[in-house]
Amino acid sequence: METNVPKRKEPGRSLRIKVISMGNAEVGKSCIIKRYCEKRFVSKYLATIGIDYGVTKVQVRDREIKVNIFDMAGHPFFYEVRNEFYKDTQGVILVYDVGQKDSFDALDAWLAEMKQELGPHGNMDNIIFVVCANKIDCAKHRCVDESEGRLWAESKGFLYFETSAQTGEGINEMFQTFYVSIVDLCENGGKRPTTNSSASFTKEQADTIRRIRSSKDSWDMLGVKPGASREEVNKAYSPRRPLVSHRWLPVSLCLFPACCFTRPISSMWLNLWFLAMVWAP
Ligand code: GTP
Ligand code: MG
Repeated sequence: METNVPKRKEPGRSLRIKVISMGNAEVGKSCIIKRYCEKRFVSKYLATIGIDYGVTKVQVRDREIKVNIFDMAGHPFFYEVRNEFYKDTQGVILVYDVGQKDSFDALDAWLAEMKQELGPHGNMDNIIFVVCANKIDCAKHRCVDESEGRLWAESKGFLYFETSAQTGEGINEMFQTFYVSIVDLCENGGKRPTTNSSASFTKEQADTIRRIRSSKDSWDMLGVKPGASREEVNKAYSPRRPLVSHRWLPVSLCLFPACCFTRPISSMWLNLWFLAMVWAP
C-alpha cells in the first residue's frame, strides 16, 4: 500500500513535509498562505494560475520542519494542472468562504477529486486536513455558521478553524495546530491522532444533527410520521438506544411543541431539544 508518511527521521532532526491547499476559486487560499508566510494581505484578486509553490521552515517542538506548500488554483479550468499534485501529501488546507454557501457545499467534491486522483491504493486516512472557514471578517454576508462548518469538519476527523486572511484572525493558531498534528502523525507511524477537542462530534451525533437540520418539519425531525403517538415515538427510538431514555422522553416531548411553534426553529430550541435527545444519560 502507498504511504504518505515521509521516511522516518530521528526525533530532533529536520523533517520535510508537503502541504496543499484546496477549495473553490476566490475563497482565499493564497491569501491565507500569504498572511502566514509574508504577514500581509492582498485585497486585489489575483487568481492562481495552476499552482503556486513555496517553501517555508517552521519549528515544532524540537524539530525543524521544512514545508513545501503547493497552493492550488480553485478554478475548474485548472483541473488538469492540479491533479498531478495530490500525491505524497501529508497535510491539506481545505478552504471555504463563509459568505459563499457554494464553496462550503463544494468541499465534498474537493475530497472526491483528491480521492480519485490518489487512486484505489491512495490512503486519505494518513493525511491531516484542516478546514478553514475563511473571510469571517465579512460578518454581514456570512451564510454558513460555525456549527455547520465545525460539524462537517469534525465528523470527518478534520481540524476546523475560523479564519480571516484580511485581519489575520485564526491564521497563526490554524497553522500551528496543523503543523503539530502533521508532526504527531509522522511520529505516530502515519496514524492520524484522535482529536481531543471536547466540542468534537462522533459520526452518529453528526448524522443526527444533519438529519435534524435538513428535516422539513418537527415530525420529520423525530423521524416519525406526522401525528405519531407517544408509543410510536417511543417505538421508533427504542431499538436505537441510547438516543432517548425514558427519564428524558417527557423533557424532549415538552420541548418538541416549542420547536413546532417557533418556526424557523431557533438554534436555542434546537440545541435544547438536541441535548435532551442525544446526550440524555
Ligand atoms: P484561486 O487562486 O482562484 O483559487 O483563489 P484563492 O482561493 O487563492 O483566493 P485569493 O486568496 O486569491 O483571494 C480571493 C479574494 O478574496 C481576494 O480579493 C482577496 O483579497 C479576498 N480575500 C481573501 N481572504 C479574505 C478574507 O479573509 N477576508 C476578506 N474580506 N477578503 C478576503
Ligand atoms: Mg489562489
